[in-house]
Amino acid sequence: MKILGIESSCDETAASVVEDGRRVLSNIISSQVDLHAEYGGVVPEIASRAHVERILPVVESALRDAECTLAEIDALAVGNRPGLIGSLLVGVAGAKALAWSLGKPLVGVDHIESHLYGALLEDHSWTHESIFPALGLVVSGGHTAIYEVRSPLDMQRIGSTIDDAIGEAYDKAASILGLGYPGGPIVDKRAQRGDAGAHDLPVSRLKPGSLDFSYSGLKTALLYTVRGTPSASDASGKPVYERAASDLTGPEIDDLCASFQKAAIDAIILKVGRALDAGEHSPRSILVGGGVSANSLLRSRLAQLGAERDIQVRVPPMPYCLDNAAMIAGLAFERANDSDFDDLHLQAMPTGSR
Ligand code: KG4
Ligand code: ZN
Repeated sequence: MKILGIESSCDETAASVVEDGRRVLSNIISSQVDLHAEYGGVVPEIASRAHVERILPVVESALRDAECTLAEIDALAVGNRPGLIGSLLVGVAGAKALAWSLGKPLVGVDHIESHLYGALLEDHSWTHESIFPALGLVVSGGHTAIYEVRSPLDMQRIGSTIDDAIGEAYDKAASILGLGYPGGPIVDKRAQRGDAGAHDLPVSRLKPGSLDFSYSGLKTALLYTVRGTPSASDASGKPVYERAASDLTGPEIDDLCASFQKAAIDAIILKVGRALDAGEHSPRSILVGGGVSANSLLRSRLAQLGAERDIQVRVPPMPYCLDNAAMIAGLAFERANDSDFDDLHLQAMPTGSR
């Protein structure tokens, strides 16, 4: 069964053709990073307009790369929740229009659930019994959460961030250090050259046994380490700092990136370890997804944790870490295979089911 998936929940316009939930025949991603970079974050109105301009060429490229015609597609899938409402609406309207005009079935997919499915793409050997129940870890620009995953479409959140998401913290760290946007890949790269022991930045633990996360303290600690603790305010009430990020040398920035990255990832490993200790449902695997699953330190620390705890850890192949439509078309197969479809009343929803 070939499914054409569409993803437009934030600032990537993406389309992909996936066969039987696993074989990725094409994976086209049109990133809008260049449009949002000067604002240091995603501007929703700019994002929706760019999706409108890009969705048809992106779908056409996905079909061309898959060497497949619309007539050969068995079903349409779209990420319809959660995300920026104006952005989601473009993908949902596009998928509905294709489904209606072609007379093909439609599946609406939860973006968060699909991130975890990204860790199962391109592998033809897994079975439901070999993976589930699983522990799910979603680490992205908008989410940092742990789930008990009973099956690809049945999961319950058991911990999440009480303030910033980890990807958001990376983006803010890059901004504090005067680096570009999005910050995650830049901080990760520079961290690999720095000394993680140079600065002792706080790892949030929260209450004993808590599976929640907090990243606002780490962000403030980095800010004060870079610029000094503000001792006064200016006339408009803004804090006055002792130093500017532009005073930092290259090696100093590398050390700060490494120290930040260590604290950010230590917190993830600590909470995943706690979730395994709580272990009421004895997971067979750890499934990881979201943009931050591309992080080099997170990938190596999770592999180490998996070896220590004797549990398989599945991180997505690199092309399926950041937002993409292969994960949407992949997860949709789990419903399409049971002929469980949505009708044309499918709605875009800013808050998801998770
Ligand atoms: O999953 P994603 O594409 O979008 C959301 O659903 O949020 O994740 C984007 C986030 C951004 O905050 C970006 O800085 C972060 O993922 N990111 C990384 C890395 N690559 C992307 N964070 C840390 N290390 C990376 N290598
Ligand atoms: Zn995402």
